[in-house]
Amino acid sequence: MDLTCLCVLFMWFSCFVSARHDARVKLTDQGVILLNFEHNHMNTVKLVKSSGLIWAGGSDNLYSINTSLIYKQVKMPAKEECKDNSDCTYNISLLKEGVNGNFLFLCRTNTYSTRCYHMASNYSLTDAFKSEYVLDINEPSLLIGNMLYFTKSNMGLYRINSMDTRVIWPHSAQIEQNFVKLIAGTGRNQDKVYTFFTEKNKSASKDLESDLWIPQVSQSCMNDKGGPKDELQSSWTSMIYARLFCGDEEGGYRFTQLIDVDTVEKDNDIKIYGLFRNYWNMSAVCVYNMTEISNVFNHSEFKSSMKRPVNHQPGLCVPDSTRLSSDTLKFMKERPEMKDWVMPENGPLLFKHHHYTHIQVDRLPNHTVLFLALESGGVHKVLEERGQRPVFVIAEFRPFPHGTHITSMVLDSLKHLYVSSSNELAKIDLQRCEVYGNDCNACVLSRDPYCIWNSVQCAPPTSESIQDQTDCHTPEVAKSRTDLRDKASVQTIPESSRTFLLCPILSYHATYHWYHGKTSEECVHTDAGCLYLIESMNATHEGLYRCESSEGVYKRTVIRYELRMSGSQALSVTPIVLLLLTMSHLLL
Ligand SMILES: *[C@@H]1O[C@H](CO)[C@@H](O)[C@H](O)[C@H]1NC(C)=O
Ligand SMILES: *[C@@H]1O[C@H](CO)[C@@H](O)[C@H](O)[C@H]1NC(C)=O
Ligand SMILES: *[C@@H]1O[C@H](CO)[C@@H](O)[C@H](O)[C@H]1NC(C)=O
Repeated sequence: MDLTCLCVLFMWFSCFVSARHDARVKLTDQGVILLNFEHNHMNTVKLVKSSGLIWAGGSDNLYSINTSLIYKQVKMPAKEECKDNSDCTYNISLLKEGVNGNFLFLCRTNTYSTRCYHMASNYSLTDAFKSEYVLDINEPSLLIGNMLYFTKSNMGLYRINSMDTRVIWPHSAQIEQNFVKLIAGTGRNQDKVYTFFTEKNKSASKDLESDLWIPQVSQSCMNDKGGPKDELQSSWTSMIYARLFCGDEEGGYRFTQLIDVDTVEKDNDIKIYGLFRNYWNMSAVCVYNMTEISNVFNHSEFKSSMKRPVNHQPGLCVPDSTRLSSDTLKFMKERPEMKDWVMPENGPLLFKHHHYTHIQVDRLPNHTVLFLALESGGVHKVLEERGQRPVFVIAEFRPFPHGTHITSMVLDSLKHLYVSSSNELAKIDLQRCEVYGNDCNACVLSRDPYCIWNSVQCAPPTSESIQDQTDCHTPEVAKSRTDLRDKASVQTIPESSRTFLLCPILSYHATYHWYHGKTSEECVHTDAGCLYLIESMNATHEGLYRCESSEGVYKRTVIRYELRMSGSQALSVTPIVLLLLTMSHLLL
């Protein structure tokens, strides 16, 4: 890539890096810390939703949390005796939704082997699998019937079953690979498994930064038995590959590092939300669907220069793969890739100078909302809008008191988001609508689909009130409670002292101004809010001050003060304390 090209790219990106890209509202006090694991030394905590409970597991500790936030530490099987001083410490290596009426499915792994269990509703464990494979809690997995699929970085997809027969392992690609998600096909593809991953680009040249990685999806048959003794024995004979595209074909840029994937069912299809990153650490979300993926695998030509087997469509599921012709097996050994790429439904959803690490997607009746974990430990709540860029970040949550890495996120059915770090588990209530302010316009401007103005307050929609946009101009709707804001708080400031007035910022998409007599001044932004500074109090500073926010056509008085000057310095009350006290009063 030459320099001009690079510059154009940067200019193009900077167009989208506007203030609107930032979260409109920042909420620091919305997370409730449910659990602190600090004393347990849990390295990687993973969350899973199963049987109406949230499960948090890491190291050899497991907790279940119910909707009343009562948690229970689950007893793990006792340590086994170790021969020859080897390390027998088991760590939880897999947590899955329970199958066949079980509460949970979990695996524990030590240096040499893995044991998996079904957990019944009385928390008792029964053996499900024993395996020589060492599982990693960070790798994706899938449990279908008595088959467990899991991946190993840089190796590939494995399948084991409870009898430890029908084991299938990959023929190693010898390339750096990161696996992100396994999903089972549905409908006509219910006999197939799909693996989402990125692979190091072997042919990447040093100056082609954006193509260091190749995002891909592979398809394989669940009933694959592997090849006969001499070719692909116990390896996939049905696995075919396709590239994922995320970017802008005309703009010539793309996102190639697949970071995380979440899926939702919508319009009788499975939508796959892929979180990507590019060389410049910008993030994007591209949405694919299973129909399109299946079409590419079913109809595209193969890229391979090898002659396509005559009697068999590569990738088609057959009753007995050990009987495949040697032509077919040779073809499959070369990791056959489709010529067509899997294209997203629309252009990328966001371009961000934010380092996102996890994605969760929630479907509401008329909207889809994305939750994106920031590297700093925050979470962005993002409205998915078709064809509109830049996207709208409804809010930024900071659930943890300190900056941290988020290790896992999961949504429950009651509109809560559970977020874990290596030390803590926090719960965020996604329907705290009162934070947007108590008038119609403030509620509508939030654009939060979890909230509507019900003509009394900003509140979660009830089943009767699933309406999209509220019109705040009708008098009965617009009725708002502004009484508190109309009262000016009186501040007495000693002559010649330095002071400031504080205006709380709710929306980072709004501009804030101070009005005093005939003058107006832009508010000075700080972390605490925005300020009006007075270097030295004198008589001209006396009088009324009003802080007004304006966002689009909506203007609103946020706070009023009346300043009076006292003659003597001796009366001085530290203005900052006074003001902060008043502030907290006004906000309550
Ligand atoms: C992207 O982020 C990673 C990890 O934070 C960092 O090491 C790398 O230098 C960043 N790349 C660029 C181009 O800023
Ligand atoms: C593949 O395409 C053929 C028609 O060309 C169709 O009959 C078949 O059902 C398709 N298979 C899948 C899995 O979509
Ligand atoms: C009060 O202070 C302002 C500067 O903050 C100055 O412009 C003004 O002249 C002063 N007024 C009087 C009456 O001293």
